[in-house]
Amino acid sequence: MATDVHRPVTTPKSPSTETRSAVRVEGLTRSFDGRAVIDGLDLDVKPGEFVALLGRSGCGKSTLLRILAGLDRDIEGTVLVPRRKAVAFQAPRLMPWKRVWRNVLLGLPGKPDRARAERALEEVGLDHRTHAWPKTLSGGEAQRASLARALVREPDLLLLDEPFGALDALTRIKAQRLVDELWQRRGCAVLLVTHDVEEAVLLADRVLVMDEGVIAYETEIDLERPRGISDPRFGELRAELLQRLGVDAPETSHPAAA
Ligand SMILES: Nc1ncnc2c1ncn2[C@@H]1O[C@H](COP(=O)(O)OP(=O)(O)OP(=O)(O)O)[C@@H](O)[C@H]1O
Ligand SMILES: [Mg+2]
Repeated sequence: MATDVHRPVTTPKSPSTETRSAVRVEGLTRSFDGRAVIDGLDLDVKPGEFVALLGRSGCGKSTLLRILAGLDRDIEGTVLVPRRKAVAFQAPRLMPWKRVWRNVLLGLPGKPDRARAERALEEVGLDHRTHAWPKTLSGGEAQRASLARALVREPDLLLLDEPFGALDALTRIKAQRLVDELWQRRGCAVLLVTHDVEEAVLLADRVLVMDEGVIAYETEIDLERPRGISDPRFGELRAELLQRLGVDAPETSHPAAA
């Protein structure tokens, strides 16, 4: 049963006694058939912070993201998130019977005009496909349309669940750069679920490892941007995270999956 529902984060009365958060989760528990997949989890994300979330398959990452997105409210504990949030999943989930720009505006309140969709599509480099049908888009284009749909909401919190998982290596690198640029420009908080340790170290301010229903480990990524995988510190962080995930780090720097 939910003991609390999603509420907008309010500015604390006394900033000196409480730090403002984009996400505040306390004692979150979510069970399926009597099994607690999330089990007393605490998490804070600062406004504008880029956090990556790693963890073995089935540990509850998507469950956590769905809760933060407000898609699952059958919870115990406290979850505070900004009113303006948006989510993009591994599969772009575009409606095939709606043109790209209509997909971007889908679910927005009122009657948003096309120019709004066009601006978001321009931001992700997809303005030339505004009128296209989703089935005519490449995988990378569809993912960018999905990102535009998230951005058009002008979120204070952007939730990304393995958004690059289905992309080929080159398209994936481009999509990672795009997310990096958008985050720097927009300044929203990002929570990125990924299986790719290098992706997490490349993009995030902080990387979390989820295990046994809680955040079992976290590390700040103390690398200057733009980051390169050839940096020795990058290798150290990657090895440390792989070890936490129970994977032996390879000697050379190949893309590493958790
Ligand atoms: N609606 C549901 N009903 C029952 N069990 C569920 C439901 N949703 C998730 N689970 C279970 O909760 C656990 C966590 O699932 P979740 O999708 O959050 O994992 P994940 O960490 O995102 O995994 P992956 O990395 O494979 O995407 C799994 O054991 C899954 O079977
Ligand atoms: Mg998942």
